[in-house]
Amino acid sequence: MNELVYMDNAATTPVAKSVRKAMSVFFRDEFGNPSSLYSTATTARKEGLERSRERISDFLGAKQEEIIFTSGATESDNLAIKGVALSRDESAHFITTEIEHHAVLHAFEWLEDRGHEVTYLGVDEDGLVDPADLRKSLRDDTALVSIMYANNEIGTIEPIGELADITAEKGVLFHTDAVQAYGKFPLDLGNVDLLSASGHKIYGPKGVGFLYRRKGVKLEPLFHGGGHEKGLRSGTENVPGIVGLAEATELMAEEQNEEIPRERKLRDKIIEEVLNIPDSRLNGPNKNRLPNNANFSFKGIEGESIVMKLDNRNIAASTGSACSSPSLEPSHVLLSIGLPLSLAHGSLRITLGRETTEEDVEYLLEELPEVIEELRRASPLSN
Ligand SMILES: Cc1ncc(COP(=O)(O)O)c(C=O)c1O
Repeated sequence: MNELVYMDNAATTPVAKSVRKAMSVFFRDEFGNPSSLYSTATTARKEGLERSRERISDFLGAKQEEIIFTSGATESDNLAIKGVALSRDESAHFITTEIEHHAVLHAFEWLEDRGHEVTYLGVDEDGLVDPADLRKSLRDDTALVSIMYANNEIGTIEPIGELADITAEKGVLFHTDAVQAYGKFPLDLGNVDLLSASGHKIYGPKGVGFLYRRKGVKLEPLFHGGGHEKGLRSGTENVPGIVGLAEATELMAEEQNEEIPRERKLRDKIIEEVLNIPDSRLNGPNKNRLPNNANFSFKGIEGESIVMKLDNRNIAASTGSACSSPSLEPSHVLLSIGLPLSLAHGSLRITLGRETTEEDVEYLLEELPEVIEELRRASPLSN
C-alpha cells in the first residue's frame, strides 16, 4: 500500500525539521527558567523567549510587547473574548459569526450565560460576512467584534481589513481568529486589535500560540500567578514551543511566494476532477479561498464513511471540522451556508500542505471516485 497521504493540514501539520532542531536546544542545553537571573536562564529569556517575540512581531508588523504567548489558539480566543468582557464593569454586547470555531462560539456562549448579549452574524452561500450586516449590528454598548480571518472548514477568507475598519469607526474593539490564515498569506493588521494564532497549523509544535494585543487594549487575564507576559498570562513560558513557533513562522514567510501557487494549483486540480463525480458539490467560495482548502459534499453518503474508507487506503482527510470529530453533529458551518442536513452530513475536507506531492493528488483522484461509488452502492440513502 501507498505511504500515508496526509490531506488534513487544517487539523494539524508535521513539525518541520528545522523547527525541531531549533526547539531541541531549549529542552536541554538552554533549559533555564526565563524568569531566573543566572546565565542559563538569561539565554533562555534573551535567545529563546524574547528573540522569538521579536521574530513574530516583525513578521506581523507589530510591536514586541503586543505579543502574548499562550498554550494555543483556544486559549488566545478565550483570552481575547473573556478578557475584554471581564475588563468591563457592566454587561455588554458582542458580535461574532455563525461560522466561528468552537473556541470562539463556546466562549461567547459562556458570556451569554453570564448576562452579556451576543449577535451571531449569518454568512452568504460562500461563507462570507456582509460588511453591511456588521455595520447594522453595531450598538453603543458593543464591546467587541470577533470574526475569523479564514474558515477552517470551507476556507473562506473574510474581508478582515474592511470589517475591522467599520468596527474602528465606532470605536469598538476587533478580534480575529487567524489560525488558518497566519503564515499562509500576508495578513492585514490594519485596525485589528486582537489576533489569535497557533503553532501546530504551520509546521510548529502543538500547545503553543499567541494573542496579538494592540498596545493599550484593556484585557483582564484569565490565569493569575507570577505575572508573566506582562501580567496577562501567568505561568512559566513554554520556551521550546515558543522558539518552534517563531521558527515555523519564519519558514512560512520564506516559502509563501512559491508555496501558495503550488498548493493552489494542486487544489484546483482536485476540485476540477472531484466535481466530475456525479452528485458532488464544492462547499465554499471559488475566489477568496485558502489556497490549500477543498471541501465537497456527496449526495447520499455520510462524511464519516468517506473518511474511514479513505483511511483504509492510507489517505488522511476529514469531515466537518476535525476539532469536533468524532462528534456526529452536522457541521454548523455547512448548515450556516445553507446546506440541507443530508449534504452537511456528507462532507469531505481536503487540506493540502508543504509535503503534499503531485503523486499524492493523483492517488487521491484515483481512489476517491471508487470510494464514493462503493459507498453509494451500499447506501440505502443513495436512491
Ligand atoms: C479556526 C481555528 N481556531 C482555533 C483553533 C484551535 O487552535 P488550538 O488547537 O491551537 O487550540 C483551530 C484548530 O483547529 C482552528 O482551526
